[in-house]
Amino acid sequence: MTADASLHVLILGATSGIAQATARLYASEKAVIGLAGRGRSRLEAIAQDLVARGASSVEIFEVDFTAAPPAGTLAAATRALGRLDHILLAYGVLGEQATAECDPAVARTIIDVNFGSAALWSLAAADLLARQGRGSLVVLGSVAGDRGRRSNYVYGSAKAGLAVLVQGISHRFAGRGPRAVIVKPGPTDTPMTAGIKKGSPLWATPDAVAEVVRKAADHGGPIVYAPARWRLIMLIIRNIPTLVFNKMNF
Ligand SMILES: NC(=O)c1ccc[n+]([C@@H]2O[C@H](COP(=O)([O-])OP(=O)(O)OC[C@H]3O[C@@H](n4cnc5c(N)ncnc54)[C@H](OP(=O)(O)O)[C@@H]3O)[C@@H](O)[C@H]2O)c1
Repeated sequence: MTADASLHVLILGATSGIAQATARLYASEKAVIGLAGRGRSRLEAIAQDLVARGASSVEIFEVDFTAAPPAGTLAAATRALGRLDHILLAYGVLGEQATAECDPAVARTIIDVNFGSAALWSLAAADLLARQGRGSLVVLGSVAGDRGRRSNYVYGSAKAGLAVLVQGISHRFAGRGPRAVIVKPGPTDTPMTAGIKKGSPLWATPDAVAEVVRKAADHGGPIVYAPARWRLIMLIIRNIPTLVFNKMNF
């Protein structure tokens, strides 16, 4: 950081449940926060809350990530915020697996948002950090990207591609100053999962995931699970023999 001691963070997908919980942690650190996403009134309400929680200042950027040019938008946000220390990419869509299997338009949206767009924004953010020679990029992937399964493999495949891309950015940055981390949350109680039954103790709160996301911007990676137990769970799931896996319905 330079003369101004506060962290300057830009959140892409600031209306997401996990992003909002993470933004609250940054606010408690008196960060300068940029909120990028759709819906001015929602962004304004989030900004007001963050200022009340201690944020030094909050700027709003109305952005549809599948439509806006990543490099130009990031440059404008950097100018508005003064500099960028941390960039969090949090947006995504779960989509309907069953519909995606027979409707290419639905499959395309899931793939375009979670991989196509997220990959281009990650690359533009990485380019910005590379030119700065410092700063952290944290991208939200998913445990769904670790093994394809019938209930969500279109979404999972896009998150798998994104994870490899961010891993590659992290390798590019190794020993050079900036950092990149893919955080893979397990099932988390947010608007994305509003329609899913939540009986299992494996469900996490957005606040629990946000703690991991916030720490990932400072250390660890290139792959971080949120909560951490998912590293072991996914190690087991990845290694279940196909014959057994095919009998499991999840
Ligand atoms: N919740 C989980 O169980 C879970 C598990 C693993 C990984 N994740 C990942 O964690 C991240 C955050 O998810 P969440 O649970 O916090 O979900 P969420 O509350 O549903 O947030 C998703 C956000 O993405 C935004 N978004 C989608 N497409 C956009 C676009 N083209 N332009 C601008 N904004 C767009 C949505 O904005 P609008 O409201 O305007 O559509 C929404 O604010 C996502 O990448 C998700 O895939 C979530």
